[in-house]
Amino acid sequence: MTDRRRAKLLPIERWPTRDEAEASRWFSPVRVGPLSLTSRTWVPAMVPWRATDEGFVTDEVVAWYERFAAGRPGAIVIEATGIRDVPSGPLLRAGHERFEEGLSRLTAAVKRASDGQTKVLVQLIDFLAIKRRPTREAFLGRFLPITPRLRQAMGGAARDAGEAEVRALLLASSDEAVLEVLDAREAEALRFGLRERVTDTHLPHIASLPQVLPQLFAEAAARCQRAGFDGVELHFAHAYTLASFLSAKNTRDDGYGGPREQRVRLPLEVVRAVRGVLSEALALGCRFLADETIDGGSGVDDACFFGVELARAGLDFLSLSRGGKFEDAKQPKVGHAAYPYTGPSGHECMPTTNLAPPGPFGRNLAATAAVTKALRDAGLSTPTIACGGIASFQQAEQVLAEGGADLVASARQALADPDWFLKTRLGRGDEVRRCLFTNYCEGLDQAHQAVTCQLWDRARGLPDDATAPRTRDGRRLTAPPWSPPS
Ligand SMILES: Cc1cc2nc3c(=O)[nH]c(=O)nc-3n(C[C@H](O)[C@H](O)[C@H](O)COP(=O)(O)O)c2cc1C
Ligand code: SF4
Repeated sequence: MTDRRRAKLLPIERWPTRDEAEASRWFSPVRVGPLSLTSRTWVPAMVPWRATDEGFVTDEVVAWYERFAAGRPGAIVIEATGIRDVPSGPLLRAGHERFEEGLSRLTAAVKRASDGQTKVLVQLIDFLAIKRRPTREAFLGRFLPITPRLRQAMGGAARDAGEAEVRALLLASSDEAVLEVLDAREAEALRFGLRERVTDTHLPHIASLPQVLPQLFAEAAARCQRAGFDGVELHFAHAYTLASFLSAKNTRDDGYGGPREQRVRLPLEVVRAVRGVLSEALALGCRFLADETIDGGSGVDDACFFGVELARAGLDFLSLSRGGKFEDAKQPKVGHAAYPYTGPSGHECMPTTNLAPPGPFGRNLAATAAVTKALRDAGLSTPTIACGGIASFQQAEQVLAEGGADLVASARQALADPDWFLKTRLGRGDEVRRCLFTNYCEGLDQAHQAVTCQLWDRARGLPDDATAPRTRDGRRLTAPPWSPPS
């Protein structure tokens, strides 16, 4: 590793001894609803882009989670898994009974690989349509609806011209002139690609979301229960449907938008519907945002309110994330879709060492602690899970000692080295392969390519080098093996 890169790592004075780790908070057991976790370590959802195009579990998906399970975290949350039976590329789905067999293989593999030490939950997601950014020609020549408002804005010959003529006039105009006559949504569709919003209530399938989502989530959860999961995490975070209901940007006027009491209404209805089908033996929680970190978005205050409401509705845990919104995403290239982790809020979600001090480490801890405090002040003991730039044992211990959260998650550090929990617990922290927080992995996610870690390929001379499964472009598909010396 170069000195520059090393300088950007979170300083670690020393790793704990085995005795210190064994006596620590992070490696102490905890109850999460009906579940007893062997430790307070947690691997949050990460999409590895390894499902089939039809949304089925593959051997590569199984191998990915087996590898995490070998590091024996208290729990692993399986990647965002779609609740609908609609084409959504190589993302896992739970929208039909035919997906249950593959999901069962997955849960069995995690239990086997962790010797029953790791609980396995699934993150259930709903998302709205987002189109790729079109070419100017396709948008103005075909997709843009030629409305009376547009004709009026264009003025002159466009007022009475036929549709083909209006399109020809637009195509012949400069970019600036076109943007002047488009309304904000049309301009966005041209510059970023069309993106549905929960506020598009003129569209029947968006207006009816409150009527259909509770049942869709409940049915998917029931399938996951049959597939052997220990629990379900409802995805109420980032850029997706339920997060958009919680957002301060949600101005729906049908009782499901506006004041935060109404914005939380659909998420609560989803919670009740899912709880109604799950056995008492399964944990039900959600992931939501401690702060949307966008202009005009929900802040920490809202998150405290939502946390209390969601916990009162009977959730067994609350996992706090941050940012990851479409509103400030970078403009995609033509032919690509906008990606919610590319703008400032995206950088809050998956922070890198490029961020100004204090850099990526623990950026969401203060907001998470505020939500935890709001719960305790309301007399609720629901466990919270902190996440975001956790890369050392000391950080995790401090969060737990201060009561900022009850469990501490790590995504990218666990991706860089799935054994880091086990190594730390065994007093072998010096052997941890430390995440660089430069987001090579997130770049692959953005490009919808099989996610791997850049560090896996730097470890040379390992016994399985010749035989390790690889991506088509030659990257290791799973982290190098490690076993504690006997
Ligand atoms: C490749 C990749 C895929 C991710 N997929 C999901 C996901 O499916 N659901 C989710 O809630 N968060 C997802 N995340 C966000 C992580 O769970 C986590 O919140 C974020 O990386 C910050 O934590 P960290 O600093 O420990 O990496 C993903 C992150 C990465 C790097
Ligand atoms: S590619 Fe590896 S080292 Fe880089 S941020 Fe991702 S997990 Fe960390």
